[in-house]
Amino acid sequence: MERCRALVRPALVDAVGRLHPWTGEMAAYALGWTDTTGRPDPVGSEGKGLRQALAVLGAESVGADGADAVPGAVAVELVHTFSLLHDDIMDADALRRQRPAVWKAYGTGPAVLAGDALLAQAVGTLAEAPGPHAAAAVRCLSGTLNALVSGQAEDLRFEDRPWCGPGAVGPEEYRSMAEHKTGALLGCALALGGVLGGAPGATVSALERAGRHLGLAFQAVDDILGVWGDPAVTGKPVHADLRRGKKTFPVLAALAGGGGAARELEALLGSALPIDGDAAALAAMLVEEAGGRTATRGEALRQLDSARLALREAPSARTAVRDLDALFTHVLDRTW
Ligand code: IPE
Ligand code: MG
Ligand code: MG
Repeated sequence: MERCRALVRPALVDAVGRLHPWTGEMAAYALGWTDTTGRPDPVGSEGKGLRQALAVLGAESVGADGADAVPGAVAVELVHTFSLLHDDIMDADALRRQRPAVWKAYGTGPAVLAGDALLAQAVGTLAEAPGPHAAAAVRCLSGTLNALVSGQAEDLRFEDRPWCGPGAVGPEEYRSMAEHKTGALLGCALALGGVLGGAPGATVSALERAGRHLGLAFQAVDDILGVWGDPAVTGKPVHADLRRGKKTFPVLAALAGGGGAARELEALLGSALPIDGDAAALAAMLVEEAGGRTATRGEALRQLDSARLALREAPSARTAVRDLDALFTHVLDRTW
Protein backbone atom coordinates (compact mmCIF):
# COMPACT_ATOMS: atom_id res chain seq x y z
CA MET A 1 0.00 0.00 0.00
CA GLU A 2 2.87 2.34 0.76
CA ARG A 3 4.38 1.70 -2.67
CA CYS A 4 1.06 2.62 -4.30
CA ARG A 5 0.69 5.69 -2.08
CA ALA A 6 4.14 6.93 -3.13
CA LEU A 7 3.29 6.39 -6.79
CA VAL A 8 0.01 8.31 -6.56
CA ARG A 9 1.00 11.06 -4.11
CA PRO A 10 2.46 13.66 -6.56
CA ALA A 11 -0.66 13.56 -8.77
CA LEU A 12 -2.93 13.76 -5.71
CA VAL A 13 -1.03 16.78 -4.37
CA ASP A 14 -1.26 18.34 -7.83
CA ALA A 15 -5.04 17.75 -8.05
CA VAL A 16 -5.66 19.29 -4.62
CA GLY A 17 -3.32 22.16 -5.54
CA ARG A 18 -5.55 23.02 -8.52
CA LEU A 19 -8.57 23.66 -6.28
CA HIS A 20 -9.68 27.09 -5.15
CA PRO A 21 -7.33 27.97 -2.25
CA TRP A 22 -10.08 27.77 0.37
CA THR A 23 -11.56 24.46 -0.74
CA GLY A 24 -7.99 23.27 -1.26
CA GLU A 25 -7.19 24.11 2.36
CA MET A 26 -10.18 22.10 3.58
CA ALA A 27 -9.28 19.23 1.25
CA ALA A 28 -5.71 19.21 2.61
CA TYR A 29 -7.16 19.17 6.13
CA ALA A 30 -9.49 16.29 5.24
CA LEU A 31 -6.55 14.37 3.79
CA GLY A 32 -4.65 14.86 7.05
CA TRP A 33 -1.89 16.87 5.41
CA THR A 34 -2.48 20.11 7.27
CA ASP A 35 -4.21 21.48 10.37
CA THR A 36 -6.87 24.21 10.31
CA THR A 37 -4.19 26.88 10.07
CA GLY A 38 -2.81 25.30 6.90
CA ARG A 39 0.38 24.04 8.56
CA PRO A 40 1.58 20.42 8.33
CA ASP A 41 -0.33 18.35 10.88
CA PRO A 42 1.75 15.75 12.74
CA VAL A 43 -1.41 14.00 13.99
CA GLY A 44 -3.20 14.10 10.64
CA SER A 45 -3.96 10.83 8.83
CA GLU A 46 -4.53 10.48 5.11
CA GLY A 47 -6.47 7.29 5.60
CA LYS A 48 -5.64 3.77 4.59
CA GLY A 49 -5.15 4.47 0.91
CA LEU A 50 -7.00 1.25 0.06
CA ARG A 51 -8.79 2.63 -2.98
CA GLN A 52 -5.72 4.08 -4.66
CA ALA A 53 -3.89 0.79 -4.06
CA LEU A 54 -6.75 -1.13 -5.68
CA ALA A 55 -6.56 1.06 -8.78
CA VAL A 56 -2.79 0.63 -9.13
CA LEU A 57 -2.89 -3.12 -8.46
CA GLY A 58 -5.88 -3.46 -10.78
CA ALA A 59 -3.77 -2.08 -13.63
CA GLU A 60 -0.80 -4.26 -12.71
CA SER A 61 -3.03 -7.33 -12.53
CA VAL A 62 -3.92 -6.91 -16.21
CA GLY A 63 -0.27 -6.61 -17.15
CA ALA A 64 -0.20 -2.81 -17.43
CA ASP A 65 2.09 -0.38 -15.65
CA GLY A 66 0.73 0.79 -12.29
CA ALA A 67 1.48 4.35 -13.38
CA ASP A 68 -1.28 4.04 -16.02
CA ALA A 69 -3.81 3.87 -13.20
CA VAL A 70 -2.67 7.03 -11.41
CA PRO A 71 -5.51 9.29 -12.70
CA GLY A 72 -7.98 6.60 -11.59
CA ALA A 73 -6.27 6.26 -8.22
CA VAL A 74 -6.42 10.03 -7.70
CA ALA A 75 -10.08 10.10 -8.74
CA VAL A 76 -11.15 7.36 -6.31
CA GLU A 77 -9.22 8.91 -3.42
CA LEU A 78 -10.83 12.30 -4.13
CA VAL A 79 -14.29 10.73 -4.37
CA HIS A 80 -13.66 8.82 -1.16
CA THR A 81 -12.59 12.01 0.64
CA PHE A 82 -15.61 13.88 -0.75
CA SER A 83 -17.97 11.12 0.36
CA LEU A 84 -16.56 11.13 3.90
CA LEU A 85 -16.87 14.92 4.15
CA HIS A 86 -20.53 14.77 3.26
CA ASP A 87 -21.13 11.52 5.17
CA ASP A 88 -19.98 13.06 8.44
CA ILE A 89 -22.52 15.84 7.96
CA MET A 90 -25.29 13.34 7.16
CA ASP A 91 -24.37 11.10 10.10
CA ALA A 92 -23.74 14.08 12.45
CA ASP A 93 -20.34 12.56 13.27
CA ALA A 94 -18.06 15.20 14.77
CA LEU A 95 -14.88 13.13 14.72
CA ARG A 96 -12.97 11.60 11.80
CA ARG A 97 -9.51 10.08 12.01
CA GLN A 98 -8.97 11.38 15.52
CA ARG A 99 -9.64 15.01 14.58
CA PRO A 100 -12.74 17.22 14.25
CA ALA A 101 -14.60 16.38 11.03
CA VAL A 102 -14.34 19.07 8.35
CA TRP A 103 -17.85 20.37 9.09
CA LYS A 104 -16.88 20.77 12.77
CA ALA A 105 -13.60 22.47 11.93
CA TYR A 106 -14.81 24.77 9.12
CA GLY A 107 -18.62 24.80 9.31
CA THR A 108 -21.24 22.82 7.41
CA GLY A 109 -21.57 25.13 4.40
CA PRO A 110 -17.84 25.23 3.70
CA ALA A 111 -17.59 21.44 4.21
CA VAL A 112 -20.34 20.83 1.66
CA LEU A 113 -18.48 23.05 -0.77
CA ALA A 114 -15.14 21.32 -0.12
CA GLY A 115 -16.83 18.00 -0.88
CA ASP A 116 -18.24 19.41 -4.12
CA ALA A 117 -14.79 20.69 -5.07
CA LEU A 118 -13.23 17.26 -4.50
CA LEU A 119 -15.93 15.57 -6.57
CA ALA A 120 -15.51 18.01 -9.45
CA GLN A 121 -11.75 17.57 -9.36
CA ALA A 122 -12.11 13.78 -9.36
CA VAL A 123 -14.18 13.84 -12.55
CA GLY A 124 -11.81 16.37 -14.14
CA THR A 125 -8.72 14.33 -13.31
CA LEU A 126 -10.17 11.25 -14.92
CA ALA A 127 -11.50 13.11 -17.96
CA GLU A 128 -7.99 14.39 -18.60
CA ALA A 129 -6.28 11.01 -18.20
CA PRO A 130 -3.75 10.58 -21.00
CA GLY A 131 -4.31 7.80 -23.52
CA PRO A 132 -7.42 6.42 -25.19
CA HIS A 133 -9.34 5.24 -22.10
CA ALA A 134 -10.43 8.49 -20.42
CA ALA A 135 -14.04 8.37 -21.66
CA ALA A 136 -14.52 4.75 -20.52
CA ALA A 137 -12.98 5.65 -17.17
CA VAL A 138 -15.35 8.59 -16.66
CA ARG A 139 -18.31 6.35 -17.58
CA CYS A 140 -17.17 3.88 -14.94
CA LEU A 141 -16.90 6.60 -12.31
CA SER A 142 -20.23 8.19 -13.15
CA GLY A 143 -22.11 4.91 -12.62
CA THR A 144 -20.31 4.55 -9.31
CA LEU A 145 -21.28 8.03 -8.17
CA ASN A 146 -24.93 7.24 -8.81
CA ALA A 147 -24.60 4.02 -6.85
CA LEU A 148 -22.88 5.77 -3.98
CA VAL A 149 -25.64 8.36 -3.72
CA SER A 150 -28.27 5.58 -3.80
CA GLY A 151 -26.44 3.77 -1.01
CA GLN A 152 -26.29 6.87 1.14
CA ALA A 153 -29.99 7.47 0.47
CA GLU A 154 -30.82 3.93 1.58
CA ASP A 155 -28.55 4.25 4.63
CA LEU A 156 -30.31 7.45 5.74
CA ARG A 157 -33.82 6.19 5.01
CA PHE A 158 -33.15 2.99 7.00
CA GLU A 159 -32.55 5.08 10.15
CA ASP A 160 -36.31 5.65 10.44
CA ARG A 161 -37.32 2.08 9.66
CA PRO A 162 -38.29 -0.25 12.54
CA TRP A 163 -35.86 -2.89 13.77
CA CYS A 164 -38.46 -5.65 13.71
CA GLY A 165 -41.86 -6.53 12.33
CA PRO A 166 -43.42 -5.15 9.15
CA GLY A 167 -41.22 -2.50 7.58
CA ALA A 168 -38.02 -3.88 9.12
CA VAL A 169 -34.88 -3.80 6.96
CA GLY A 170 -34.19 -7.25 5.53
CA PRO A 171 -30.77 -8.76 4.82
CA GLU A 172 -31.08 -8.19 1.07
CA GLU A 173 -31.92 -4.53 1.61
CA TYR A 174 -28.93 -4.16 3.90
CA ARG A 175 -26.68 -5.79 1.32
CA SER A 176 -27.95 -3.52 -1.44
CA MET A 177 -27.31 -0.44 0.71
CA ALA A 178 -23.78 -1.55 1.64
CA GLU A 179 -22.99 -2.59 -1.91
CA HIS A 180 -24.01 0.86 -3.13
CA LYS A 181 -22.49 3.05 -0.44
CA THR A 182 -19.18 1.18 -0.09
CA GLY A 183 -18.90 -1.66 -2.60
CA ALA A 184 -19.41 0.50 -5.67
CA LEU A 185 -16.33 2.67 -5.07
CA LEU A 186 -14.06 -0.27 -4.25
CA GLY A 187 -15.33 -2.03 -7.38
CA CYS A 188 -14.72 1.14 -9.36
CA ALA A 189 -11.17 1.46 -8.01
CA LEU A 190 -10.19 -2.02 -9.20
CA ALA A 191 -12.12 -1.64 -12.46
CA LEU A 192 -10.48 1.70 -13.25
CA GLY A 193 -7.11 0.00 -13.00
CA GLY A 194 -8.32 -2.44 -15.62
CA VAL A 195 -9.90 0.22 -17.83
CA LEU A 196 -6.86 2.51 -17.79
CA GLY A 197 -4.62 -0.52 -18.27
CA GLY A 198 -6.52 -1.32 -21.48
CA ALA A 199 -8.09 -4.59 -20.29
CA PRO A 200 -11.02 -6.17 -22.18
CA GLY A 201 -14.56 -5.71 -20.84
CA ALA A 202 -14.87 -9.17 -19.30
CA THR A 203 -11.70 -8.63 -17.28
CA VAL A 204 -12.86 -5.20 -16.13
CA SER A 205 -16.19 -6.58 -14.97
CA ALA A 206 -14.49 -9.41 -13.05
CA LEU A 207 -12.28 -6.82 -11.33
CA GLU A 208 -15.33 -4.69 -10.60
CA ARG A 209 -17.12 -7.67 -9.06
CA ALA A 210 -14.09 -8.53 -6.93
CA GLY A 211 -13.95 -4.96 -5.63
CA ARG A 212 -17.66 -4.93 -4.88
CA HIS A 213 -17.42 -8.10 -2.77
CA LEU A 214 -14.36 -6.64 -1.07
CA GLY A 215 -16.45 -3.56 -0.33
CA LEU A 216 -19.13 -5.68 1.33
CA ALA A 217 -16.45 -7.33 3.46
CA PHE A 218 -15.04 -3.89 4.24
CA GLN A 219 -18.45 -2.59 5.31
CA ALA A 220 -19.09 -5.63 7.51
CA VAL A 221 -15.79 -4.95 9.28
CA ASP A 222 -16.70 -1.24 9.46
CA ASP A 223 -19.97 -2.22 11.15
CA ILE A 224 -18.05 -4.37 13.65
CA LEU A 225 -15.60 -1.54 14.39
CA GLY A 226 -18.54 0.82 14.91
CA VAL A 227 -19.74 -1.34 17.83
CA TRP A 228 -16.59 -2.95 19.23
CA GLY A 229 -13.77 -0.83 17.81
CA ASP A 230 -11.35 1.16 19.93
CA PRO A 231 -12.01 4.88 19.27
CA ALA A 232 -8.32 5.60 19.92
CA VAL A 233 -7.53 3.38 16.92
CA THR A 234 -10.53 3.90 14.63
CA GLY A 235 -10.47 7.66 15.20
CA LYS A 236 -14.29 7.62 15.34
CA PRO A 237 -16.59 7.47 18.37
CA VAL A 238 -17.86 4.01 19.28
CA HIS A 239 -21.64 3.20 19.32
CA ALA A 240 -22.52 6.15 17.08
CA ASP A 241 -24.34 3.80 14.67
CA LEU A 242 -26.36 2.24 17.50
CA ARG A 243 -27.37 5.62 18.84
CA ARG A 244 -28.56 6.83 15.45
CA GLY A 245 -30.51 3.68 14.69
CA LYS A 246 -28.24 2.78 11.75
CA LYS A 247 -29.22 -0.56 10.34
CA THR A 248 -25.90 -2.33 10.56
CA PHE A 249 -25.18 -6.00 9.89
CA PRO A 250 -24.35 -7.06 13.48
CA VAL A 251 -27.62 -5.73 14.90
CA LEU A 252 -29.77 -7.08 12.06
CA ALA A 253 -28.09 -10.47 12.35
CA ALA A 254 -28.51 -10.52 16.13
CA LEU A 255 -32.22 -9.74 15.87
CA ALA A 256 -32.70 -12.36 13.16
CA GLY A 257 -31.04 -15.01 15.34
CA GLY A 258 -33.89 -15.21 17.87
CA GLY A 259 -33.33 -16.32 21.47
CA GLY A 260 -33.37 -14.47 24.78
CA ALA A 261 -30.68 -11.89 24.02
CA ALA A 262 -32.30 -11.07 20.68
CA ARG A 263 -35.68 -10.51 22.35
CA GLU A 264 -34.11 -8.29 24.99
CA LEU A 265 -32.30 -6.36 22.25
CA GLU A 266 -35.53 -5.98 20.32
CA ALA A 267 -37.27 -4.54 23.38
CA LEU A 268 -34.39 -2.15 24.05
CA LEU A 269 -34.13 -0.85 20.49
CA GLY A 270 -37.90 -0.77 20.03
CA SER A 271 -38.55 1.35 23.12
CA ALA A 272 -39.54 4.97 22.55
CA LEU A 273 -36.61 6.17 24.66
CA PRO A 274 -33.56 7.51 22.83
CA ILE A 275 -30.50 5.25 22.91
CA ASP A 276 -28.08 6.98 25.29
CA GLY A 277 -24.55 5.87 26.19
CA ASP A 278 -25.62 3.19 28.71
CA ALA A 279 -28.34 1.81 26.44
CA ALA A 280 -25.88 1.64 23.54
CA ALA A 281 -23.35 -0.24 25.68
CA LEU A 282 -26.05 -2.69 26.76
CA ALA A 283 -27.22 -3.08 23.16
CA ALA A 284 -23.64 -3.86 22.08
CA MET A 285 -23.45 -6.61 24.73
CA LEU A 286 -26.76 -8.08 23.64
CA VAL A 287 -25.77 -8.00 19.96
CA GLU A 288 -22.63 -9.96 20.82
CA GLU A 289 -24.56 -12.43 23.01
CA ALA A 290 -27.13 -12.96 20.25
CA GLY A 291 -24.36 -13.85 17.82
CA GLY A 292 -24.35 -10.63 15.77
CA ARG A 293 -20.61 -10.17 15.89
CA THR A 294 -19.82 -13.74 14.85
CA ALA A 295 -22.38 -13.59 12.05
CA THR A 296 -20.88 -10.36 10.72
CA ARG A 297 -17.40 -11.81 10.76
CA GLY A 298 -18.81 -14.77 8.80
CA GLU A 299 -20.37 -12.39 6.28
CA ALA A 300 -17.02 -10.59 5.86
CA LEU A 301 -15.25 -13.92 5.28
CA ARG A 302 -17.85 -15.03 2.73
CA GLN A 303 -17.64 -11.75 0.83
CA LEU A 304 -13.87 -11.96 0.82
CA ASP A 305 -14.04 -15.48 -0.62
CA SER A 306 -16.33 -14.19 -3.36
CA ALA A 307 -13.89 -11.35 -4.02
CA ARG A 308 -11.02 -13.83 -4.39
CA LEU A 309 -13.11 -16.02 -6.69
CA ALA A 310 -13.99 -13.06 -8.93
CA LEU A 311 -10.34 -12.04 -9.06
CA ARG A 312 -9.42 -15.47 -10.31
CA GLU A 313 -11.90 -15.13 -13.15
CA ALA A 314 -9.82 -12.27 -14.54
CA PRO A 315 -6.67 -13.31 -16.41
CA SER A 316 -4.18 -11.76 -14.06
CA ALA A 317 -0.48 -11.18 -13.50
CA ARG A 318 0.72 -13.32 -10.61
CA THR A 319 2.62 -10.72 -8.55
CA ALA A 320 -0.28 -8.25 -8.58
CA VAL A 321 -2.74 -10.96 -7.57
CA ARG A 322 -0.47 -11.88 -4.66
CA ASP A 323 -0.41 -8.19 -3.63
CA LEU A 324 -4.18 -7.96 -3.98
CA ASP A 325 -4.60 -11.09 -1.86
CA ALA A 326 -2.51 -9.47 0.88
CA LEU A 327 -4.62 -6.32 0.61
CA PHE A 328 -7.82 -8.36 0.87
CA THR A 329 -6.55 -10.03 4.05
CA HIS A 330 -5.66 -6.62 5.45
CA VAL A 331 -9.26 -5.45 4.95
CA LEU A 332 -10.48 -8.29 7.15
CA ASP A 333 -7.91 -7.85 9.89
CA ARG A 334 -7.92 -4.08 10.05
CA THR A 335 -8.58 -2.31 13.35
CA TRP A 336 -9.35 1.13 11.85
C1 IPE B 1 -19.70 5.74 4.65
O1 IPE B 1 -20.46 4.90 5.35
C2 IPE B 1 -19.96 5.52 3.16
C3 IPE B 1 -19.69 6.69 2.36
C4 IPE B 1 -19.01 7.71 2.79
C5 IPE B 1 -20.23 6.71 1.03
P1 IPE B 1 -20.48 4.97 6.94
O2 IPE B 1 -21.20 6.17 7.40
O3 IPE B 1 -20.98 3.66 7.39
O4 IPE B 1 -18.93 5.07 7.27
P2 IPE B 1 -18.18 5.72 8.52
O5 IPE B 1 -18.34 4.73 9.64
O6 IPE B 1 -18.78 7.03 8.81
O7 IPE B 1 -16.74 5.82 8.09
MG1 MG C 1 -20.60 7.76 8.63
MG1 MG D 1 -22.96 7.08 6.71
